[in-house]
Amino acid sequence: MSENKKVTLTINGVKREVPASPDMVLLDLLRNDLHLTGTKQSCDRKGQCGACTVIVDNKAVRSCITKVASLDGSEVITVEGLGTPDNPHLIQEAYVLSGAIQCGYCTPGMIMATKALLDKNENPSDADIKKALSRNLCRCTGYTKIFDAVRLAASFIRGETTPEKVRASLRTEAMGESHPRPSSMLKACGLAKFAADYYIDGAVEIAGVHSTEHHARIKSIDTSEAEKMPGVIGVMTGKDVPGTNRIRVMAPDQPILCEDIVRMYGDPIAVVAAETRQQARAAATKVKVTYEPLPVMRTAREAIAEGAYQIHSHSPNLCFAMPLKKGDAEKALKEAAAIVEGNFTTQMNHQAPLEPEVCIAYLDGEGDKPELVIVGRSINIHGAKAQLQDALGYDNIRYQEPFVGGQFGIKATISSEGIAGAAALYFKRPVRYVPSIEESMWISSKRHPFDMTVKLGADADGHITTYDIDILENTGAYMTLAFVPISRALHMLSSSYNIPNINAVGRAVYTNDAPGGAARGAGPPQACFALESAMDMLAEKLGIDALEFRRMNSLKPGQSKATGMVVSQWPFPEICDLIQPCYEKAKKEAEEFNSSQSGPIRRGVGIAADAFGIAEAGDKSDLSVEVDPDDGITIYAAIADPGEGNDSMLTQIAAHLLDIPMEKVRLYTRDTDKTVGMGPAAGSRMTFMGGGALVNALEQMKQAMKEAGTRTYEGLKKAGKPTRYQGVRNAPGEGRPDRDTGQGPSFVTDVQNIQMAEVEVNIKTGETRVIKMTTAVDAGPIINPQNFTGQLEGGMDQGVGYALREEYINGKTKDWVTFKFPTINDSFDTEIYTSETPREPGTLGSTGIGEMTMVSTAPAVTNAIKNACGARVYNLPATPEKVKAALAAEK
Ligand code: FES
Ligand code: FES
Repeated sequence: MSENKKVTLTINGVKREVPASPDMVLLDLLRNDLHLTGTKQSCDRKGQCGACTVIVDNKAVRSCITKVASLDGSEVITVEGLGTPDNPHLIQEAYVLSGAIQCGYCTPGMIMATKALLDKNENPSDADIKKALSRNLCRCTGYTKIFDAVRLAASFIRGETTPEKVRASLRTEAMGESHPRPSSMLKACGLAKFAADYYIDGAVEIAGVHSTEHHARIKSIDTSEAEKMPGVIGVMTGKDVPGTNRIRVMAPDQPILCEDIVRMYGDPIAVVAAETRQQARAAATKVKVTYEPLPVMRTAREAIAEGAYQIHSHSPNLCFAMPLKKGDAEKALKEAAAIVEGNFTTQMNHQAPLEPEVCIAYLDGEGDKPELVIVGRSINIHGAKAQLQDALGYDNIRYQEPFVGGQFGIKATISSEGIAGAAALYFKRPVRYVPSIEESMWISSKRHPFDMTVKLGADADGHITTYDIDILENTGAYMTLAFVPISRALHMLSSSYNIPNINAVGRAVYTNDAPGGAARGAGPPQACFALESAMDMLAEKLGIDALEFRRMNSLKPGQSKATGMVVSQWPFPEICDLIQPCYEKAKKEAEEFNSSQSGPIRRGVGIAADAFGIAEAGDKSDLSVEVDPDDGITIYAAIADPGEGNDSMLTQIAAHLLDIPMEKVRLYTRDTDKTVGMGPAAGSRMTFMGGGALVNALEQMKQAMKEAGTRTYEGLKKAGKPTRYQGVRNAPGEGRPDRDTGQGPSFVTDVQNIQMAEVEVNIKTGETRVIKMTTAVDAGPIINPQNFTGQLEGGMDQGVGYALREEYINGKTKDWVTFKFPTINDSFDTEIYTSETPREPGTLGSTGIGEMTMVSTAPAVTNAIKNACGARVYNLPATPEKVKAALAAEK
């Protein structure tokens, strides 16, 4: 037994004496003992993420690797010690006013690191800011607005301006203005509660036992040693899960806890419950599992090879094939004046939200079937509830979503909720499940790898005539959302262009890799990499400038997309015009740079475009709004906001239509109680679908107010009018595309984008550095410019990570360093041009923007690499080794 040492330290001005064991870290003291939960944990004591940053004796330190025993006499300041929403610190004000807070999970750590910097240097350069924040990760913002926040905070501190002046410069109109997000000050002050911030009396902590094999039969599970470990309450296995023990998204194939076979490394097998997290994790290592190895197939090609071992008994490894046929692609290929072809592959990737996959579960109430409350991170709380009811065999479930530290598609499917819910039912105690980042990676879905064989042809005038693509999707060990990326990739296949003849097929294949799921863009980013690479190859072959080639091939109103759906609006040529001057300038600068250099650095400029479909025909959403007694309103809608800005969207639309202050718009959006299913906050659909339902509800409310001659709650009551109104949004169009040809209704409107990457490639090392990304976008009228640009900047940052470095290798990727999470040192300049063509079916003309720049960044970067040094990379990510290999292949 190790000796506890008495340590005296001051925390946020309060002197405390605490007993500290030699291995106790400051983060645990702050969070678990003092419940100062503003300080966050992401990387789990690895010192990689900075979410746990606090100030100790005037220095920023990572509290997860700072031993309490070393802090005798120290002064600690956490984010809660800086300011409160009523009396915020200038740095907290600056983060809120700069739009530097999206999900807010990194925010407390960022703010504390900023304070440590500005306490010493009130006028930091960009290099100083980079140095000070180099250990603080952010997945949402792309760091651009974090730079802005630090600069603004510094100008507040120097007395050059004030938060009041910045607020006064905002127009009072609700729409089209960068009003701070409703929750941003709470997040800046560390008061927004994320799942791990819920501490429930009597809760047990649980830890998982996971497969160390990629594919094996479970021979035995021996829990006897684990059960004897200190603090252990019990161990459960698959046989203890009361329902189907299968999560059904598309197929009921994914066990909550594997009973007989593991199909991927990290598959969950058992759960240990103990009094503390450390005890549960220690005991989990003592559960002994023996395996009989089975054949392992990590790629789709291996899994569909003749004689390949069948991974699931209910289905061949080839789960399904989805065709799309338009015109006569075969004939057009024969007649084409120029054809390019290639095989393009994309990697498995992790969405990498900073928050781990935490879930809290507890039984609430008395009787045989008390309510099972799940506090989880879903972006589709009603869908998650239905899946849990089936998997756990338990109907009385309520799903609540706290604040969520990013998701980027990962929470379209269930991860920790099944495990925590099953444990709460089995152990009959409240359960806290705080998996590590590595475990979070194992239990969550990933971006599917695509293997794409492409032919693209054009006539002698440079008009694209035909496109042939064969997509193999590695759906991993479980089907989850296998259908979605293929369907979306096919429906958006023609992208910005008029392609009269298309022959495409998408095939989903079971493998022994991590299961694929939704990931920002989900399908189009993979397909766009192939098409936009081929576009540059074809333009080069035809001797036409890359931008001109795209503009001359733009779809026009009256022409049809890949699915045959005819478009009535297509503002793509206009955004080509917007980016043209920057493109010409960048090309000239790159030429001048290259001709003036004798060293190994080459500059290049690349472009890529995309048209991203919004709202599938027939999609439907419902919500309700209620007038409150103080004449404000409450919106009841199952619309998650893990950082995209949906809370702002709802608030600003409601304030605009009712002409009431934004403070009087209340949101009840993260609880299955009092809301109905709206579908996922994914696919950039919520502005169109949720916003559209809100407009519908408010129009009814306004009509009732008009008829009653009142704008008040009392007035409506007196007139006998309802105070609550149900709104619905039906995306126009009916039915599904034809099963054999993929022709038919599709996404009802589109966001348009073209973007440009400026890169430097070191031809000796193969290393690529993105200097700048410029994007031109048309998504209809902009509701909140700061949120809008924040989504574009964040998407570009993730896109560059996808293009150059990120890869999830199941069994090897275990934390943020092995994942190669982009840091502020990898950040780059960004420039954004917008046009705002109101969309005919849009919500007040608007669509959605969350995924747009993620789609076309990777091909813009690889096209820039090609233009810099001649190396065409066919296989993402474009690592230095692949760039060097491509250069060697060109010689
Ligand atoms: S939780 Fe401390 S650095 Fe990540
Ligand atoms: S706002 Fe930084 S991780 Fe989400």
